[in-house]
Amino acid sequence: MDDLEFKRRYGPWALIAGASEGTGASFARQLSAKGLNLILVARREGPLAALAQELRAAHGTQCITATIDLAAEDAAQQLLGAAEGREVGLLILNAGADPNGAMFLDNAVANWDVLVMRNVMTTMRALHAFAAPMRQRGRGGLMVVGSGACYGGLPGINVYAATKAFDLVLSEALWAELEPHGVDVLSYVLGRTDTPAHRELMEARGMAVPAGLADADDVARLGLERLPFGPVCNWGEADDEAVMSASSAAQRRARIRQIAAISAAYTVKG
Ligand SMILES: NC(=O)c1ccc[n+]([C@@H]2O[C@H](COP(=O)([O-])OP(=O)(O)OC[C@H]3O[C@@H](n4cnc5c(N)ncnc54)[C@H](OP(=O)(O)O)[C@@H]3O)[C@@H](O)[C@H]2O)c1
Repeated sequence: MDDLEFKRRYGPWALIAGASEGTGASFARQLSAKGLNLILVARREGPLAALAQELRAAHGTQCITATIDLAAEDAAQQLLGAAEGREVGLLILNAGADPNGAMFLDNAVANWDVLVMRNVMTTMRALHAFAAPMRQRGRGGLMVVGSGACYGGLPGINVYAATKAFDLVLSEALWAELEPHGVDVLSYVLGRTDTPAHRELMEARGMAVPAGLADADDVARLGLERLPFGPVCNWGEADDEAVMSASSAAQRRARIRQIAAISAAYTVKG
């Protein structure tokens, strides 16, 4: 898709939650280069403001920032507030890594609450809030950045994996529900990626940075390319390949299509 068509389908504004560094900043740079205006969200204002200034100067697009803690009870409301009066055609929910790296019982439950608030509650509420006007307009895109951890529980990747499974399953359902309304939904499942958050966690655990981490710019590029081809894109795998999961993206898509008619019969029409 060329930049003009991308902007027509997903512009004029994109909101990126978790935009200040890593894959979030890569999405921001690439979307700004395509001519989209941006709402950049994270907790730290400094890196957001620097990025916004860089993008305005580089591309002449509009770029505003909002410091929001996505784990706050009213985070989705705050996101809506930040977007007020702007037509958001693309929502990217990028923030989602697990800073805990701990066994379930060896961590205070309050820390797990924070992860669930950000990755489950805010994700679900933001999708609900931003998808509604997209459905009305008959166009738009929703991307939830996920993790290969979504495909099963592992020690030390407990609550994180469970939140990512929630995000995957919800995104698949929304893909099927919103496709007839011209809104694209993608669960973008990443593998290990070279981001500051990931490096920080490895450093804190005394781990060496391994070779072969995915590059954040490459990750962002593929995600934007695959946005119209939901519901799932697994980084590093072709559409019909299954490495991280027992089923490929293509098989998951086919399964949803296959049972859509049965599930639709149980559904109250809005
Ligand atoms: N890196 C990997 O190896 C890897 C592997 C698989 C999946 N993923 C997925 O890829 C996505 C990006 O991961 P990442 O490694 O870049 O780390 P991340 O911590 O999920 O994302 C970093 C960005 O999110 C912001 N952020 C984090 N928590 C936030 C909160 N509570 N409220 C608002 N903003 C918040 C950070 O800025 P502030 O600190 O200023 O808030 C920063 O801009 C995540 O969804 C993660 O699960 C990553």
